[in-house]
Amino acid sequence: MTQETQQQETQQPVLALDHVSYSYTKGGRNVLNDVSMAFEPGKMYAITGPSGAGKTTLLSLISGLTTPTQGAVEYEGKSLAEINRYDYRSQDIGVIFQSFNLLPSLTVAENIELSMDASGREFSEPKSDIIARLLQQVHLPVEYAKQRILHLSGGEQQRVAIARALSYDPHIILADEPTGNLDPSTQADIVNIFRQLAHEQNRCVILVTHSPAVAQAADHVIQLTKLQRPVVQQ
Ligand SMILES: Nc1ncnc2c1ncn2[C@@H]1O[C@H](COP(=O)(O)OP(=O)(O)OP(=O)(O)O)[C@@H](O)[C@H]1O
Ligand SMILES: [Mg+2]
Repeated sequence: MTQETQQQETQQPVLALDHVSYSYTKGGRNVLNDVSMAFEPGKMYAITGPSGAGKTTLLSLISGLTTPTQGAVEYEGKSLAEINRYDYRSQDIGVIFQSFNLLPSLTVAENIELSMDASGREFSEPKSDIIARLLQQVHLPVEYAKQRILHLSGGEQQRVAIARALSYDPHIILADEPTGNLDPSTQADIVNIFRQLAHEQNRCVILVTHSPAVAQAADHVIQLTKLQRPVVQQ
């Protein structure tokens, strides 16, 4: 084991689920039942499992959009119930939704700037320089900054959604099915971008995926089952 690996393995979790249960209706069936798990920086996690197992529900709990019925989601050791969830969502976590949630009539740069402004962060460089670097990072030509979203392909929009999620430098990146509907080489490229974000920038990357190739590229695979017991496979 290298020293670098040893260092990575002793990292404190950035995010943890502590006996989390969730039901969409009061007194109804638990979609997630007593789930406890920890996520470390510098690692890429894949959450897999059949349709309806609760993967998107788990992401919405982690992103602070939904509150657990029981238990707690903890960021850096503090329950989301005790911290400012707006700050958490706009600064600490970058979410890439399956439907991208980009504003189609705005340009690429305008979409990214909206998230930068919402974070309330101060940036030490002009925003246009940061956006140019982000576009390079997701392998899009810099001239795309001025393109309207509605003129972009699905794979290109996926890259913009990643750039936007990175724009305010969050510790955690969440993505729901980030490679659905992409051709194999675009999928491989996007997966590599996520791996670099984890391994080279020490972010915690959590992807929901149905793709065995994406799961294989992750450091840890968390399998959700309809029996409601997650199994950590790796
Ligand atoms: N808003 C909602 N109200 C009530 N039930 C819901 C709601 N959203 C999801 N569910 C139910 O919760 C369960 C888990 O849904 P979830 O979307 O988390 O599954 P998933 O694992 O992401 O599935 P998929 O792979 O199809 O995206 C399903 O039985 C679903 O019907
Ligand atoms: Mg889902």
